[in-house]
Amino acid sequence: MSYSIKVDNVSKKFRHYTDKQSTLKDRVLNFGKQVIKEDWILRDINLEIAEGQAVGLVGRNGSGKSTLLKIMTKILFPDKGMLDVFGRVSSLLELGAGFHPEFTGIENIYMNASILGLSKKEIDAKLKEIISFSELGEYINQPVRIYSSGMYMRLAFSVAISVDPDILLIDEVLAVGDSAFQNKCIEKIKELKGKGKTIVIVTHDNSMVEKICDRAVWLHNGKITADGSPRDVIMEYMSFLSGEENKRLIAVQEVDNSNATTVETKQITETLETSNVESFKDTRFGNKKVEIVDVWFSDNQDELKKNFNTGESMNINIKYRVNHKTDSIVFGVGFNTSDNIYCYGTNTHIDRSININDLQGEGTLQFKIDRLLFLPGVYKLDVAVHHENGEPYDYLTHAYSFQVSSDINDVGVVRLEHSWELKG
Ligand SMILES: Nc1ncnc2c1ncn2[C@@H]1O[C@H](COP(=O)(O)OP(=O)(O)O)[C@@H](O)[C@H]1O
Ligand SMILES: [Mg+2]
Repeated sequence: MSYSIKVDNVSKKFRHYTDKQSTLKDRVLNFGKQVIKEDWILRDINLEIAEGQAVGLVGRNGSGKSTLLKIMTKILFPDKGMLDVFGRVSSLLELGAGFHPEFTGIENIYMNASILGLSKKEIDAKLKEIISFSELGEYINQPVRIYSSGMYMRLAFSVAISVDPDILLIDEVLAVGDSAFQNKCIEKIKELKGKGKTIVIVTHDNSMVEKICDRAVWLHNGKITADGSPRDVIMEYMSFLSGEENKRLIAVQEVDNSNATTVETKQITETLETSNVESFKDTRFGNKKVEIVDVWFSDNQDELKKNFNTGESMNINIKYRVNHKTDSIVFGVGFNTSDNIYCYGTNTHIDRSININDLQGEGTLQFKIDRLLFLPGVYKLDVAVHHENGEPYDYLTHAYSFQVSSDINDVGVVRLEHSWELKG
């Protein structure tokens, strides 16, 4: 296999200098000394990228993606291991890197393209094409300090592709462009790929990885955690993210339930609008003849869960207590989006599927969903128990929330189960 980039056992560390001493004594004893802390940001990275391959680099913030691209660009050097690169590299790293704020767009084109290896003559010949691709119009004669981040990106991308690179490295910058320009970039990248160029792209847009790349690499805490087909790697990464989110949400709920809400978790809960029963006094009403004691979400194994994937099963568990014996009890649930679109509601009376006339004491009622077809977002649940004639026992509106994730990019609120068929 002929490769264009070979990352051979590369590790990279960064030093943090800090003069923060933790105690007064430390400060006195270490006066004037800086404390040096070293962190290994990349650890034993092995990556052979074949000529003509398009690789999507994914991973959470801080996982080392940008550092790896900078090593491939040779603006950073590994502390261990080796890097081999064959061909002319053009890279689109942090926005504005390499631009001089006081220079005009045109002046920056000359500066940048010459750094990337073009002669003045070559740039003269390409100038028109670069400006036209950037769609900057008259702004090309303005200093770039007045550019928006989208305009910066347009200029940087146009220059990066103009040098006819063998290898194109792109960090997360495409996202700042509007969608029309983004599509134009994607088309351009595909065109370069069609010409056999090697591409490494960092993005949080999974669909872009699937559209452009024939390989994906997931970097986690400076290590390669998965390397394979975009679909497989992204599925694995998404399922990891959804597990992390789930753990976080459950942790928040546990803190909530113990009423030991710290400021930080309170902020998270407010953002997600999750809550326990008590903190939703405003949106709770009813005479409590039958009381909703607790509500939680679980999977079909009855494991506690707050983050679901579209299409997964979900159980809503409603713990109740009958305080006054009564008949004709009706339980209901309602689902709202985070911006208060009421999506679906039903109750045991409408459904006629369960007879709950003479309940006593405490118990748990389960609302079971085989396939939860909401699209990604945070949803708020209403839970209610009332008499068949409407007498409210306990109503909790928007009191519980859960989150939905998905790796498919259909849009809207719910997925309609469907298929496509070509006829005739
Ligand atoms: N020049 C630097 N000096 C010290 N630490 C750095 C430097 N650049 C990046 N880091 C640290 O390295 C880690 C990985 O950063 P980065 O490669 O930018 O991750 P990503 O692009 O995946 O978000 C982060 O913890 C970041 O703070
Ligand atoms: Mg980065």
